Amino acid sequence: MVQGPVASSFPAPDAASTKAKAAMKFATRAVHAGSPHDPVTGAVIEPISLSTTFAQTAVGAPVGQYEYSRSSNPNRSNFEKAVASLEGARYALAYSSGSAATANILQSLAPGSHVISVSDVYGGTHRYFTQVAAAHGIAVTFSGSIEVDIENLVRPETKLVWIETPSNPTLTLVDIRAVSEAAHAYGIKVVVDNTFMSPYVQNPLNHGADIVVHSVTKYINGHSDVVMGVAAFNDDALYTRLLFLQNAIGAVPSPFDSWLAHRGLKTLHLRAKAATENATAVATALEASSQVIAVNYPGLNSHPQRYIAVKQHRNGMGGGMVSFRIKGGAEAAKRFCQKTHIFTLAESLGGVESLCEVPSSMTHAGIPRAEREAAGVYDDLVRLSCGVEDGEDLVADIQQALEAVAQEFPAEQ
Ligand SMILES: Cc1ncc(COP(=O)(O)O)c(C=O)c1O
Repeated sequence: MVQGPVASSFPAPDAASTKAKAAMKFATRAVHAGSPHDPVTGAVIEPISLSTTFAQTAVGAPVGQYEYSRSSNPNRSNFEKAVASLEGARYALAYSSGSAATANILQSLAPGSHVISVSDVYGGTHRYFTQVAAAHGIAVTFSGSIEVDIENLVRPETKLVWIETPSNPTLTLVDIRAVSEAAHAYGIKVVVDNTFMSPYVQNPLNHGADIVVHSVTKYINGHSDVVMGVAAFNDDALYTRLLFLQNAIGAVPSPFDSWLAHRGLKTLHLRAKAATENATAVATALEASSQVIAVNYPGLNSHPQRYIAVKQHRNGMGGGMVSFRIKGGAEAAKRFCQKTHIFTLAESLGGVESLCEVPSSMTHAGIPRAEREAAGVYDDLVRLSCGVEDGEDLVADIQQALEAVAQEFPAEQ
């Protein structure tokens, strides 16, 4: 098994084919990138390569490019190539979860390094930064307005800026270009967690970021049946370092999960469009309801940072995630999630099926109330992940649930 340098899944590309592939539109790349026909059988869909080890014809001379599946595997390589193509990156590396992708990137920093992060990050990322990275000598400073604060927060040892846009669950946006320009002036790299938008709606590297990460578990796989992560980037030195860590730490996805996620990715453009259309209809209906205090959706003109969505998202799309504050407080929010028939009460997001949840009691319960509310996560906030069902059915489901809650909590209306 590989102890030294790991064979790259990204051999030096021939210039003509790279140019031709890069010119192809997203949908074509989603279907074909990293999807060669099987050279032996002609199979159009790649077989699942379960073998953990690969034969060698002489010591150190493997038959193909693979030696041992932790180091690299055909299904993982093909998935990585597909994601790299969709994010407009030279390289991508896949991990056993989105959290493992985060951990590998933080592990690439030397002890004593400093990171600046948006405060509104995914709870698990916050937990890793404060309880794991801190123990390895990495200090993280959180900022609620990173575009404004960054200049004041930079230290000589600052190596990374971490952005999540839109944020979870308030759908606050960050101007990737503005933050990247400020960070690059100090030689600091910028990571964007693009999980909520998917590569179809937003490509952070095109806006100046250095690394884009995804919880593949969400939109990229899209069918709520795989936990996986990925990071994509252009820098050669970063590739060498992260490839080494991917193998050394070993938090890699199985061949079957890589295959499933690759299959899901082939329809990402269709799902992302449908989810955006549905979320737009749902957000519009919520905004028109007298039971609703406020709606957070970057696709609405009422979103305070709509101008960022317009320049940063494909066609100004809002994505599939919506959150809103319901009249009647915490109990009304919880009842709403029990009253929906199509939206399932569950954590996670980005699947073909619509989900709803109450962040203050579920995904964000671990964050102290004062900190939560400062970020807009009140007890009456409901988060929706709009799937790809019929939009009219989703709107009707939301409306009947709002009416049912209004009848139960009349005093609070
Ligand atoms: C924005 C975001 N980033 C990262 C993660 C972590 O991904 P995973 O659950 O695949 O480890 C999540 C999970 O919910 C997420 O929502």
